[in-house]
Amino acid sequence: MSTIASSNPPSTIPAYLTTTSIGKKVLMAVSGVIAFGFVCGHMLGNLQVFIGQDQMNHYAETLQNLGPMLWVIRLFLAAAFITHIWLGILLKLQNNAARPVGYKNETTQKASLASRTMIWTGLIILTFVAYHLLHYTARLTNPEYASLLDGQGRFDVYSMVIHGFSDWIISAVYIVGVGLLAYHLSHGVASMFQSLGLNSPAWQVRLNRIAWFFTILLFVGYASIPTAVLTGCLTLPGGGY
Ligand code: HEM
Repeated sequence: MSTIASSNPPSTIPAYLTTTSIGKKVLMAVSGVIAFGFVCGHMLGNLQVFIGQDQMNHYAETLQNLGPMLWVIRLFLAAAFITHIWLGILLKLQNNAARPVGYKNETTQKASLASRTMIWTGLIILTFVAYHLLHYTARLTNPEYASLLDGQGRFDVYSMVIHGFSDWIISAVYIVGVGLLAYHLSHGVASMFQSLGLNSPAWQVRLNRIAWFFTILLFVGYASIPTAVLTGCLTLPGGGY
């Protein structure tokens, strides 16, 4: 008579989430939803640059005035990003170990290019975000930005963005970065629904369309800013760069 080998299932929710493959996928999806929420909110915030200098600087000042609360939000978002990246790498390594030969034949035909390259697009986006933080948040790449003030003595985020994107190489880096982000999300959003159990064969086509809708919206929204600066549609208050 044969016996079925049983490994002890994790007894607590945190242990379940961090040790089982399904738990890790659920955690990836939840952290992905948080990161996605930030990306949508950040785009809406940035699009205020089209309203003008006063609106953009007022928005940036309002965020800065959140004081310690801003740091609570930043730490929460950083935790979500780190969880997402860490589990993404872990799941990729586990998949490779379980299938050392890699995908072949029919499986490869079914999996989209976006889904097979998630780890690589993810790591490039991470590099892009690191550069972006050094560029516009820490301003280490361009320390001269720190002295930009508007007529009301506020930090002039509006002019910083225009100066930044007046360099076509920097604009190109941003457009490629947000393009890869959108591509990553084209699979990520659909897969997020699946990991959270919100997918079904009947809904799959609709959910894929929703994912592509957000992908295009985010790409157009983000890429419109460097494009508008390069084409002269967005200029400094006095005109030009
Ligand atoms: C055209 C595209 C983008 C523009 C114009 C832009 C603009 C900015 C600016 C001006 C800041 C600094 C705000 C300040 O210090 O007052 C900032 C911060 C930040 N951006 Fe972006 N951003 C873009 C794309 C992105 C993308 C695609 C991501 C993430 C995937 C991102 C993530 C962040 C993060 C994490 C911060 C730091 C927020 C904080 O300091 O609390 N940005 N961005």
